[in-house]
Amino acid sequence: MAICTKAELEQKAKFNSFYQLSTHDVLRKIEKYTCGCCYGGNSWTTKKQAEYICKALNLSTQSSLLDLGAGAGWPGLYLSSISGCSLTLVDLPETGLKIATRRSIQDKISERVRTLVADASQLPFNKQSFDAVSHSDLLCCLFSKLKVLTECRRITHAHGKMVFTVISIKPGLGKLDYEKAVSNSPEFIQAAEEYSIMLRRCGWQIVDKTDLSEDYLESCRLQIEADDLYRDELAKLLGEKETSDRIGNWNSKLEVIGEGLVTRDLYVCSPNDS
Ligand SMILES: C[S@@+](CC[C@H](N)C(=O)[O-])C[C@H]1O[C@@H](n2cnc3c(N)ncnc32)[C@H](O)[C@@H]1O
Repeated sequence: MAICTKAELEQKAKFNSFYQLSTHDVLRKIEKYTCGCCYGGNSWTTKKQAEYICKALNLSTQSSLLDLGAGAGWPGLYLSSISGCSLTLVDLPETGLKIATRRSIQDKISERVRTLVADASQLPFNKQSFDAVSHSDLLCCLFSKLKVLTECRRITHAHGKMVFTVISIKPGLGKLDYEKAVSNSPEFIQAAEEYSIMLRRCGWQIVDKTDLSEDYLESCRLQIEADDLYRDELAKLLGEKETSDRIGNWNSKLEVIGEGLVTRDLYVCSPNDS
């Protein structure tokens, strides 16, 4: 298993507790308010963005989709529901994947959904196993970005596509702004190179890139609004201190997004030899 740093293991434990809590009613209401769906989502992907991803990947009943860093199944399960594609969900914590399996049964799509605990940088699939790959804010949650993009390329069909979202630091920031961006962003936001360069080096060409920073800002605003709206229920579940810390954390995020220190982009890519 390639995940080995203390920070990555700590993050895995954090995601695990997130998914354990994610089925609580109040968190589902907040998620619905913020992103338009309630699957126990943990990225900033909205329902509207998921619908765009479905079109960009040309998903149909004939397609096989791999959703990496799938959490509790958002947005993979939704993509399979609206397109009829077969779906493989991969993540490290099993907790989220178990929730996804239950949801697939509830949504009557379980016959075309499978889940697997695996590391995105060492995928247990043969080359060209999938028509489509998606990941939502996964690359800002791990160190080995190049390894993951290379694995994605290996397991994608020559005529396939990959669509992903990622949060990154705006290039060219001064030291103070850079540090402010890092401390109010996903744990592994820092990248040695820009994504356009990494993608090319891993055998991908960018077909389309959309700046979702405005949507990210709006989702963060909605998140704060929703936490405020359901504050009493949230405090009952998490306790007063964790609730205040959580809202404080959203406000700091809102500030760095609003100041343009971080961006969230959606990439549509195809193999560069297709
Ligand atoms: C931002 S969350 C997104 C989860 C889900 N797709 C969603 O949109 O709600 C990123 C996910 O990537 C997973 N992850 C992080 N590092 C990973 C790795 N090396 N291999 C597989 N999954 C990983 C985390 O466990 C987490 O569930």
